[in-house]
Amino acid sequence: MADLPLHPDTVAVHAGRSDFGALGVHAAPIDLSSTNPLPDILHGGDSYEAMATGGHPLPDGGNVYARLWNPTVARFEDALSELERSEASVAFSSGMAAMTAAILSHTTAVGKRHIVAVRPLYGGTDHLLDSGLLGAEVTFCHEAEVADSIRPDTGMIVLETPANPTLDLVDIAAVVAQSAGVPVLVDNTFATPLLQNPLDLGAAMSLHSATKYIGGHGDVIAGVIACSEETAAALRRVRAITGALLHPLGAYLLHRGLATLPVRMQTQQEGARALVARLQDNPAVSEVFYPELSDSRGLIGRQMRGGGAMIAIRLAGGYAAAEAMTGAVRLFTHAVSLGGVDSLIQHPAALTHRPVAADARPGADIVRLSVGLENVDDLFADLEQALSRAAVAANV
Ligand SMILES: Cc1ncc(COP(=O)(O)O)c(C=O)c1O
Repeated sequence: MADLPLHPDTVAVHAGRSDFGALGVHAAPIDLSSTNPLPDILHGGDSYEAMATGGHPLPDGGNVYARLWNPTVARFEDALSELERSEASVAFSSGMAAMTAAILSHTTAVGKRHIVAVRPLYGGTDHLLDSGLLGAEVTFCHEAEVADSIRPDTGMIVLETPANPTLDLVDIAAVVAQSAGVPVLVDNTFATPLLQNPLDLGAAMSLHSATKYIGGHGDVIAGVIACSEETAAALRRVRAITGALLHPLGAYLLHRGLATLPVRMQTQQEGARALVARLQDNPAVSEVFYPELSDSRGLIGRQMRGGGAMIAIRLAGGYAAAEAMTGAVRLFTHAVSLGGVDSLIQHPAALTHRPVAADARPGADIVRLSVGLENVDDLFADLEQALSRAAVAANV
C-alpha cells in the first residue's frame, strides 16, 4: 500500500493487492493446493516446525501443507489487517471457530481457567462460553462489573458492541481500563472495521463473523480475528492443531467483498436510519433498538463512526405479532444471519439466542432486522404491510 495516509474506503479497495503488478494479475490468485512440493527434508521440516508453532513459512521452506498455510487465505488476512490497522489477522472456518481458538489460546493453552464475558452476546457465543465445553469457567457480567469479576486465573475478557440482538453499546475503553492487563476480545461483527476499530481503543482482539458484512452476499461462512503478531501466532498454532481452516475459495470471496464493504455499509446504514425514523411512528412497534437512539454516553463518534445497519423492534402485539410479521414479509427474507446485500428478519428468542439462559434471553416480542441494499421505500412498504397484518393477528 502507498505511504500516503489513505481513507478507509481506498484501503478497502486496494488492501492485499500491492503485489498484483509484479504478479501480472488484476484479481487475487486462488491457490487450491492441499499440499506443496518440499525443497528438501531439512528446509521443509523447519518450515513445518515454524508454522506448527504459529509462525510464517520459512522463505525457502515452502508452505508444506494447507492446514498450516495458504497464500489466498494469508492475502485476505493481510487485507483485513490493513482495514483494522492491526499487525496481523487470522482467519477461520467460521466466527465460532475463531471464538473457539481465542478461548483455547487464552485459557487452556496458557494455564488459565477463567473468562469474564459481558452480556448480551450473540447466542452462539453465549452458548459456547456457558457450555463449559472448552474447559473454561465463565463469569457473565455487566460492563460496570468487569473489574470485580476478574480473578488471578482470568485469561480473557469477551464483549460485543453493538451487541446482538438489541444493539446495546459497550464502552470498549472503559472495559479495557478495568481489565488489569487481561486481553480484551471485542466481537466487531455488527460494526465492521469501517465503523469501529477496537484495537485503537486498547482491545487485544477484534473478532468478526466474516459470514456477515465482510462477505456481504450470504455465500461464505468464515471468521477472522485482527490482533498483534504475538496473539496471531498463538491463534495460528491452535488453528494448525485443530484444523478450523478457512477454505481458499471463501478467502477469495471475502477479500473481494472487502472492496465494496464501505459502500455497502454506508448505504445499508442510511437505509437503517430511514427505517428507524419511520418505525418509531408505527403504532404496532412499541420500541425501536438502534445504537444512535440509545447512545447516552456519546459512544457514536468516540468509539463508533455510525450506528450501522442492524435494527431490532419490540412489537406491541408480542410473540403473536412476531409470528405474523415474520410470516407476512415479502421483500425481507425470514432467515437468520445478517449483513448481506438483501434484508433479513428473524426472531432472536426462538433462533439465534435460543441457547441463552432464560433470564438473559431477548424478549419473545422482539424481532431483528438486517437492512440490505434495497430501496428504503420498498423496504418500509414491506415492513408496514407486515406490521399491519401482525397487529391484526395479535389483536392490537
Ligand atoms: C455477533 C456474532 N458473532 C459471532 C457469530 C458466529 O459467527 P459464525 O456464524 O460465522 O460462526 C455470529 C453469528 O451470527 C454473530 O452474529
